Amino acid sequence: MTHSPAVLKQALTHVLAQRDQWWSTLEYDPENRWFRTWPCPIEAAEIRLMTWLPEQGTGLHDHGGSSGAFHVVSGVVREQVATRTVRGTYEIREKTHQTGDTRVFGTTYIHDMTNVEITPAVSIHIYAPSLTTLTRYHWNSLGPAAYMTDDVSAARA
Ligand SMILES: [Fe+2]
Repeated sequence: MTHSPAVLKQALTHVLAQRDQWWSTLEYDPENRWFRTWPCPIEAAEIRLMTWLPEQGTGLHDHGGSSGAFHVVSGVVREQVATRTVRGTYEIREKTHQTGDTRVFGTTYIHDMTNVEITPAVSIHIYAPSLTTLTRYHWNSLGPAAYMTDDVSAARA
């Protein structure tokens, strides 16, 4: 099942409205980026709540064919996106997402997210369908080069 960007955003808005229920459950882990799942208001999708201490980041990755969206609830997150140019090459485009920003992405999206500020950040993510694998990439002269695929299903965690 695929969901439109509007439906993904609506689901994030729904979870954001439940902030009083989950905010006190958030943890900040200096060793590994922390996340937890949260009930998803739409079918065939998954919500993850994430916290980001300063300098914590994902590295360049895809979402195993899932589309998705994220919303910055608190703090600032820098995103670097592997973007195909009209010449067929790749370039990294950088965007800084402030508190309140939302980004929707498609099934082939490759990005890196990092907290480059000195204060923690919190974000809500939705993946449709639910995440199962995630492939990691190096950046080389031709663009993103896959080097590892992780099993990242929440059921396994
Ligand atoms: Fe991602």
